[in-house]
Order: sequence, then structure tokens, then C-alpha cells
Amino acid sequence: MQTNINNKDIEAILNSLIEGTILVKNGFIENVNDALIQILEYKSKDELIGNLATGVLIPSTTEKFLEFNKHIFQEVNLVSNYGDLIPAILKINDIKIQEQDYKIVTIIDLREFREKDTLLFKQSRLAAMGEMISMIAHQWRQPLSAMSSILAKLKIRTLKSKNEEILNFNKEFDNINNYIQYMSKTIDDFRNFFKDDKQKEYLDINDVIDITITMIKPILDSKGIKINVNKKEELNKIFTFKNELIQIILNILNNSIDAFEENNIKNGKIDINLSYCENYLRIVITDNAGGIPENIISKVFEPYFTTKHEKNGTGLGLYMCKVILEKHFSGTINAKNIEKGSSFSIDIRI
Ligand SMILES: Nc1ncnc2c1ncn2[C@@H]1O[C@H](COP(=O)(O)OP(=O)(O)O)[C@@H](O)[C@H]1O
Ligand SMILES: [Mg+2]
Repeated sequence: MQTNINNKDIEAILNSLIEGTILVKNGFIENVNDALIQILEYKSKDELIGNLATGVLIPSTTEKFLEFNKHIFQEVNLVSNYGDLIPAILKINDIKIQEQDYKIVTIIDLREFREKDTLLFKQSRLAAMGEMISMIAHQWRQPLSAMSSILAKLKIRTLKSKNEEILNFNKEFDNINNYIQYMSKTIDDFRNFFKDDKQKEYLDINDVIDITITMIKPILDSKGIKINVNKKEELNKIFTFKNELIQIILNILNNSIDAFEENNIKNGKIDINLSYCENYLRIVITDNAGGIPENIISKVFEPYFTTKHEKNGTGLGLYMCKVILEKHFSGTINAKNIEKGSSFSIDIRI
């Protein structure tokens, strides 16, 4: 086949590829395509051409390889314009162009694949957990209600007694009964939470907040964290997804709990404020846990962004909140710092 492809044509071909592509000569970047500029978040090629290729491609000390579409590729990290590390796989080929030796490096950005993997993994784990909780709930129901009825019988018997001390047992029986009711209620709440019925319901937002707090209250109590909800009596019902909303609020509360611990704060306090703004319901959650360092506040909603490396933070909590809000609630979430801590504001369209 006789073709006359010139440099312009080669450039047009490279720019039409999905993969990021770098043309390297003697270790220096000779040219790059549009996909690569996009992956690395540069504005133009000129910022890259002439640099050492190892400036954007971090050669790993221990070489790692990865199977992708049944082929084995080298796994590397790319450095973006802003210094972020981007997981990628690459393939290097030697080519000759006009009698000169070049290396052509093609690169696939793995971020999106990784994100899907982790989300899927998280979802399947949630489903498995839901099944387990459901089984526990089932097994506990009978003994819990048996305990309740034994207590009721004991109560009747003590009431017949003339003995002052035995009469006092009654108060204790009531206490035990409250604990039993509390246990049945929490296990039901958890079971409903994990149920996979993604349907909108008419919800009283006050109830949603109550359920969420019931779920997390024992942890808050054990750490001496106070929580205060500013309920809105005049709020009407909203038509929305209950479990997702609970999950979002739980994620934010859990972050506050982490922050209290990290910053060693003794008089932890969380406030939840509800209000209406035009056709939005606004939930503002504030804490006095020291706030989010200003240099990272713009990154907290990014996937995998975490400062909890020792605690195995996933960096997915706030990212999931944002995705769920945008997808299911036509909503938004924002973070800012206030005097002694942070403030997360959620807007849900109603
Ligand atoms: N209430 C808060 N106070 C201080 N920092 C916070 C708070 N909430 C979130 N952050 C910061 O945002 C980061 C991302 O949170 P998240 O997405 O939930 O991931 P993870 O909790 O796994 O780290 C946290 O690592 C933390 O640095
Ligand atoms: Mg978190």
C-alpha cells in the first residue's frame, strides 16, 4: 500500500486515540496527544514538550504488571499538572520515524475503572451485610419478645407483693424492658437501612434524622459527643429515598466522630439544622472538631481523598455522598470551616 502520511496526519491520528500517547526521543518528550493533556490536566502541549518523560511517568521501584483485557501491561503512576498521582497502565514500543529512533508510550488512565471496582465492591459488601443483619434480626426477634413477656409476668407477680423491696424491682423491670425495646428497634432500623428497595417514599425529614441518630447514638454516647437537632415543625413531607439520605448523614457524622478523636477534642458537639430555601430542603451539619485544613478543603469530595492513612480511610465517604446527592436528589453538598470546626451543607430539591 502506498501512502503519503506526513507529520500533520500522524498528529491527527494520535489525537483521535482514547489512550494518552507520548512520543519520546532520548528520554525527552517530543510530542503528546490531546488525550494525554486531558489526563494530566495541562492546558497545552507546550507545557510538556521538551521535558524528561520521567517527570510525568513515575517509574516504580518494584515493577508491577496488570492484566487488562487479557494482556499484561506495566502499571505506573502519572504525575498530573497539580502533582496528583494518577494510576495508569502503559505500553512502550520502539518505532522508527524518518530513520530516527523513538519510543512511543501509550497510556490508559485507570481512575475510572478503579472507581467502578471499588463502588461495586462496596455495594456487594453492603448487600452481604444487609443479609446478615436481616438474619440476626430474625433470630433475635423471638428471644427479645420472649424476654419482654417474661418481664411482664414478673411485673404482675411483684405488684402483688407487700414487700417494699420487691415492689422496687418494678422500676428495674421497666428499665430492662426499655433496653429490650431499644434493641428491637435498632435491629429493625439497621435491617430497613440495608434493605435493597430503592424506592422513593414520602418522608418526614424529622423522622429520617431521628432514625439516623438512633443508629449512631451509642457511638456518640460512648465518646461523650453531644448532638443537637434543630427540628422544623412546619416542614412537610418530602418524596425521596430514605436509606440514601440516612447514609449521607451517617457518613458526615462519622467523619465528625473521626475528627473529634484525631484532634483529641473532649467536649465534642454536633449540630444538625434544618431549613427551607426556595424549593430546597437544607440540612446543615456542624461540628466543633477543629475544621478541615484550608489547603485540602477543595479536595474532600474527590474519590480516594483521605487524610486517614493510618486508620485505613477509604476517601470514598464524601465522594459517595456527593454522587448520591447529585444522582438521586438533584442536590448538592458543600463544606466550609466555621469558628471551631467544619460545616457541611446539603441541599435537596423538593
Ligand atoms: N468533620 C470533619 N472535620 C475535619 N475533616 C474532615 C471532616 N469531614 C471530612 N474531613 C476530611 O475529609 C477527608 C475525606 O473524607 P471521606 O471522603 O469521608 O473519607 P475518609 O473518611 O475515608 O477519609 C477526611 O479524610 C478528612 O481529612
Ligand atoms: Mg469518611
